[in-house]
Amino acid sequence: MEELQDVKNQIKTFVQECKDEKSLVLLDKLATGKMLRSKLILKIAGVSEESIKLCAVVEMIHAASLLHDDVIDEADTRRGAPSVNALYDNKTSIMFGDILYSKAFTELALMDREIAHTVANAVTLLSIGEMLDVDLTETFNSSYEKYNDMIYKKTASLIEASAKAAAILSGKDADKYSLYGKNLGLAFQMIDDILDITQDSETLGKPAMLDFVEGKVTIPYLLLHERLEDKTKLESLYKKELSQDESSWIKEEMNNTKALEDSIKLAKDLGNEAIETVKDESDSETLIFIMKAMIEREF
Ligand code: FPP
Ligand code: MG
Repeated sequence: MEELQDVKNQIKTFVQECKDEKSLVLLDKLATGKMLRSKLILKIAGVSEESIKLCAVVEMIHAASLLHDDVIDEADTRRGAPSVNALYDNKTSIMFGDILYSKAFTELALMDREIAHTVANAVTLLSIGEMLDVDLTETFNSSYEKYNDMIYKKTASLIEASAKAAAILSGKDADKYSLYGKNLGLAFQMIDDILDITQDSETLGKPAMLDFVEGKVTIPYLLLHERLEDKTKLESLYKKELSQDESSWIKEEMNNTKALEDSIKLAKDLGNEAIETVKDESDSETLIFIMKAMIEREF
C-alpha cells in the first residue's frame, strides 16, 4: 500500500513540528511495524488528508505505547531490531513515548469531537489493559474472562477505535465498524499468542515461547491448563527459563490436547463474527480480506 508512505511522512512532519532534533533521530530508530491500524483506517475511510492524519495519530499513540511497554517488559528487541530502551536507556524510551503520545493528542484535539473522544477513550482502556496484563503475570491466571478483558483493553480497544473513527470520518455505520474492529483486535492478539508458540525467534523478531516465561498465560496455555489431567508439571514451568525438553513437552501437549488447534478456532470464530457484522457493507470484501490475512499471518 503506497498510502502507508504518506502516513510515515505525516508522522515525520508531526515530529518535525515539535522542533526537537533528538526526537527526529529517535523516530528514525523505530522499526516500522505492520501498520494494521492504518491499513484498516484507509480501507474504511479512503485516502484523504484527514484520514492520513488520523492514521498518523493512531500510529504515534501505538508507537508510544510500545516504547513504554518495552520498558515495562524489559524487552531489548522490537520488530527484530534493538528497542529504544536497549539502544539508549529506559528514560529515553519513556520520554520519547511521552513526546509522540502528547503530539498525537495535540493533533487529535483539532479533529472532530466524536473521533477525538473515541480515540482518547481507547488510550485510557489501553493503559488499563497494560496494567491488567502486568498484574496477571504475577500468579498463574486460569481465568478465561480475565484474559479476555485484558486483551480487549490492551490490544483490541485501539483497533476498535481506529475502525470506529474511520467510519465516523466517512459517514459509515460506526457501531458495525466498531464491532468489526473489536473482533479483529481480539483475534489479532490471539493469533499473536499462538505464533509465540508455533513460530521460531527469527520469524518473530523476538525470542520464541517467551510469553509463558514472562508469566503470560495466553489462550493456548489457558486451554492446555484446563485440559491437562495433571496440571502440576505445567504449573511448575510457569515463569521459568525453559529447556529444549520442556518447550517440546509443552508443544506436544498443546497438540495432544488440541489446545493449539482450538485456540486457532477461537480466533477464527471471532474473525467470522466480525465478517458477519460487515457483510452487507460496501467495503465488505476488503474487510474480509484484512481479517483473513490477519488470521493466516505467520508473524
Ligand atoms: C504490547 O503488549 C503492549 C500494548 C499493546 C499496549 C501497551 C500500553 C501502554 C504501555 C500504556 C501507555 C500508553 C501510551 C499511549 C503512552 P505485549 O507486551 O503483549 O506485546 P509485545 O510482545 O509486542 O511487546
Ligand atoms: Mg511487550
